[in-house]
Amino acid sequence: MASTRTLVSSLVFVFLFLFSFSEAREFLVGGKTDSWKIPSSPSESLNEWSKASRFNIGDTIVWKYDSKNDSVFQVTKSDYANCNVSSPIAQYNDGNTTVKLEKPGPYYFISGAKGHCEKGQKIIVVVITPRTKSLGAISPAPSPSEFSSGPAVARTSGVSGLKCGLMMVVLGSWLGMVLV
Ligand SMILES: *[C@@H]1O[C@H](CO)[C@@H](O)[C@H](O)[C@H]1NC(C)=O
Ligand SMILES: *[C@@H]1O[C@H](CO)[C@@H](O)[C@H](O)[C@H]1NC(C)=O
Ligand SMILES: *[C@@H]1O[C@H](CO)[C@@H](O)[C@H](O)[C@H]1NC(C)=O
Repeated sequence: MASTRTLVSSLVFVFLFLFSFSEAREFLVGGKTDSWKIPSSPSESLNEWSKASRFNIGDTIVWKYDSKNDSVFQVTKSDYANCNVSSPIAQYNDGNTTVKLEKPGPYYFISGAKGHCEKGQKIIVVVITPRTKSLGAISPAPSPSEFSSGPAVARTSGVSGLKCGLMMVVLGSWLGMVLV
């Protein structure tokens, strides 16, 4: 009896633990629906929002806008800087644009509407490089070198992942007890 209970709670726990690591998130650009527009001030810049967010591989970003008068172009770094809309990597004007972040590094997006990018309607989204050597969240205290070289955001994300994992452990054991 006791061993069955342990087995079930372990299985539930393992499942929830893995699930908590693979969770992908969806970000609404700017945090609210009418954000894809010419910013009214530098502090309204979408890059202020993107700098404060952590993007991981597998996450998606969503733009909501009026498809009649705006669009989203994914461009190169230099086309981002020059607001050059002539050869985008990808372009969307469906008013409900979803882009999945498949690889680490920066993504550059500008508005395809005439004159909008020049007035600041553009955004850089930087996807965090995954920690390949170990599962960051369950590794012991980081070495000093990790602190100086790794991006601070990656560490924070590991810590929140750990918290989430611990919550799942508690939930998992509780479910295990209830089920058996
Ligand atoms: C876009 O079009 C809508 C109506 O279709 C209008 O209300 C809105 O002001 C327009 N936005 C811009 C930036 O022109
Ligand atoms: C925009 O990009 C195209 C293609 O890369 C290039 O031919 C053109 O000169 C660029 N225009 C500007 C203004 O930089
Ligand atoms: C926007 O697209 C998502 C999936 O990409 C869909 O679930 C959602 O219903 C769409 N919303 C609107 C308003 O079209």
